[in-house]
Amino acid sequence: MKLFLDTADIEEIRTVARWGVLDGVTTNPTLYAKVGGSYESILTEICHITSGPVSAEVVAEDVEGMLKEGRAFAKLAPNIVVKVPMSETGLEAISRFADEGIKTNCTLIFSANQGLLAAKAGASLLSPFVGRLDDINQDGMDVIRELVSIVELHGIETEVLAASIRGPRDVTDAALAGAHVATLPFKVIQQMVRHPLTDKGIVQFQKDWAAARAAASGASA
Ligand code: G3P
Repeated sequence: MKLFLDTADIEEIRTVARWGVLDGVTTNPTLYAKVGGSYESILTEICHITSGPVSAEVVAEDVEGMLKEGRAFAKLAPNIVVKVPMSETGLEAISRFADEGIKTNCTLIFSANQGLLAAKAGASLLSPFVGRLDDINQDGMDVIRELVSIVELHGIETEVLAASIRGPRDVTDAALAGAHVATLPFKVIQQMVRHPLTDKGIVQFQKDWAAARAAASGASA
């Protein structure tokens, strides 16, 4: 399973890239608003850090506007994927982008049917929002499971990307559900690294090592 970082923060992206586990990045207007500056410059910089897919989201609500914004993003780097919200106009834009050879990530998916439509329109990534469904007392992971089954059953050429991930358990569940990708906030990927027994074990090894070295140097003195 591929792991993307769900952020527009360059330092977070650099850090995870250094760990050797970064397969791509997703951004959206909210994540961009947290860092500010020029969206285009941020996207270009991200595309220098990773050669994996980098999602850039359109905000226009009409097809021509989406196409104009998406084409401009696609010119920034070869690994840009245009993120298009699920809607009637969004589907039309996804289909037009597919005709032009521009890859898309259909975002704000909350049902398997929405995902199926986006896949048929030609989206290369389908982004169901797990956490936002959980927030309204629905099982977000069910949409991942259903969409993965549909994609595999019918051999549809697309990837299911688990988005709106809120904690490390969501990542395990998305992996078990067969999600092709999960996009994670930096905090969640940090939480995945840590385990209290790992921390305890490291402290104990350091202590035992220091004691053994002290004893060895005492014995040789
Ligand atoms: O990339 C979009 C998605 O991951 C947003 O997550 O936490 O705002 O629901 P969240």
